[in-house]
Amino acid sequence: SPDQLDLFYHGTFREDFLWGVSSSAYQIEGAWNADGKGPSIWDNFTHTPGSNVKGNATGDIACDSYNQLDADLNMLRALKVKAYRFSISWSRIFPTGRNSSINRHGVDYYNRLINGLVASNISPMVTLFHWDLPQALQDIGGWENPSLIELFNSYADFCFQTFGDRVKFWMTFNEPTNQAWLGYGSGDFPPKVKDPGWGPYRIGHAIIKAHARVYHTYDEKYRREQKGVISLSLSAHWAEPKSPEIPRDVEAADRMLQFSLGWFAHPIFRNGDYPDAMKWKVGNRSELQHLATSRLPSFTEEEKRYIRATADVFCLNTYSSRIVQHKTPRLNPPSYEDDQETTKEEDPSWPSTAINRAAPWGTRRLLNWIKEEYGDIPIYITENGVGLTNPKVEDTDRIFYHKTYINEALKAYRLDGVDLRGYSAWSLMDNFEWLNGYTVKFGLYHVDFNNTNRPRTARASARYYTEVITNNGMPLPREDEFVYGQFPEGFIWSIPPQVVTTKNACRHLLNVSSGTKYFLGENHYPQVYSWTQEGLGIHSRAQVADLVGFLNTVHAREKECP
Ligand code: FCB
Repeated sequence: SPDQLDLFYHGTFREDFLWGVSSSAYQIEGAWNADGKGPSIWDNFTHTPGSNVKGNATGDIACDSYNQLDADLNMLRALKVKAYRFSISWSRIFPTGRNSSINRHGVDYYNRLINGLVASNISPMVTLFHWDLPQALQDIGGWENPSLIELFNSYADFCFQTFGDRVKFWMTFNEPTNQAWLGYGSGDFPPKVKDPGWGPYRIGHAIIKAHARVYHTYDEKYRREQKGVISLSLSAHWAEPKSPEIPRDVEAADRMLQFSLGWFAHPIFRNGDYPDAMKWKVGNRSELQHLATSRLPSFTEEEKRYIRATADVFCLNTYSSRIVQHKTPRLNPPSYEDDQETTKEEDPSWPSTAINRAAPWGTRRLLNWIKEEYGDIPIYITENGVGLTNPKVEDTDRIFYHKTYINEALKAYRLDGVDLRGYSAWSLMDNFEWLNGYTVKFGLYHVDFNNTNRPRTARASARYYTEVITNNGMPLPREDEFVYGQFPEGFIWSIPPQVVTTKNACRHLLNVSSGTKYFLGENHYPQVYSWTQEGLGIHSRAQVADLVGFLNTVHAREKECP
């Protein structure tokens, strides 16, 4: 029921739970052309009029992290995180995207960052590709060019070889669903290809192959010595059927998950091939569109064998949920969006944020869906957080967001047996939020973008997150814990009284119902026991031991008090 969804659950995560914060290169580093860095497609995009980025913002300086390594490390240490998820800018270490163009300054930067993390006992979690393709590679066709697979592989190989002695957690791609749709479907992101019926599937296909290629490189050349894990970060909203009793809605909700998460997860975590729902829907609609073949490409049997089981853990980015219904959309023009045959909405009762509405309970369901669909695999939440337009330093709404989302993750772990191993908040600090520029703020730390030094200031949510990390979750405070045990022998049971006695027998009585405290005898006992209609409130565990019984009202005793 709706109220049950909101119940708070107390408990802690596994002992080695990996608490982290996340960021990405283009969003924070700045120094877009410093020390020989080559431009990425995001540099070009933001430097070209018509990008549609709010305020014509760019990542030229962003948080200036390239020059503010110590400030970043200080925040991470203050937060007490166990892990930091960041991405490497491909064109910072290979200005042309090719290993022949190695830029030592770029390599140094990541070495200093990684060494700083390791020295602080913070595990680096590294994303190899967070959307900022070297422009030089876009110039030869980007992910449309089959040679990108080998180029990505040699970039990854270099990273394993150079950083893998200290980096034990790798992600090849960040959110390929968004990369493929926004970059090649809607065309809102660079490289601005607007080809909604074919582009996303074509690029998705290339990304899956590139991922598998890199996985095998790690597996064959580095795993034995470096002993790390490798995966990719996939994103999804939870999909809740609008009418759970209508099978068509239930199917539609499942289909939405297959088109977002399953698109990449099904080949990689199941059988090397796309989910049936995608193959059928795109196939049928392509036929109705009188196309000779499905717009969804297919893998050969050999490719399937190569692709399946190419991730060691599951990395999930999630922010919100959708209410889903079946619909039959127009047939033309063909579109990945319409292929899903769904309507998606947010419930207006969910708290609004700058980008999505918050629906924390969806996270628990999504985690369970992943467990059902892909088996009992270790799961890391690699991004979760809230964008706000004008957050105060006391950002209580962000605290509420993380508190409720982490609590649902905790329920999935404790109550449902989901093998959840980590949680990483997006984001360490305010940064360049893609088309929203600097107008939407996700940071646990505030960054002053009007000041050339880009000073960072902890928000209240940063302190709250540290508290969660320190507690390893949300344990019940000791004084609120329900205590199991027995009272001493000879304990006096009586009718609901207004007074309570302690070990010192009648020396210490207290009448709360009238608001008067009765102290009897010469011994003054400091504890306060309260007795109300609801029951007995005891203010510390230690005091329980002193309680020897309940007595009936002893109104007359007041006179005996000292
Ligand atoms: C995710 C992106 C990340 C950030 C958050 C808010 O989709 O991976 O870079 O922009 O959204």
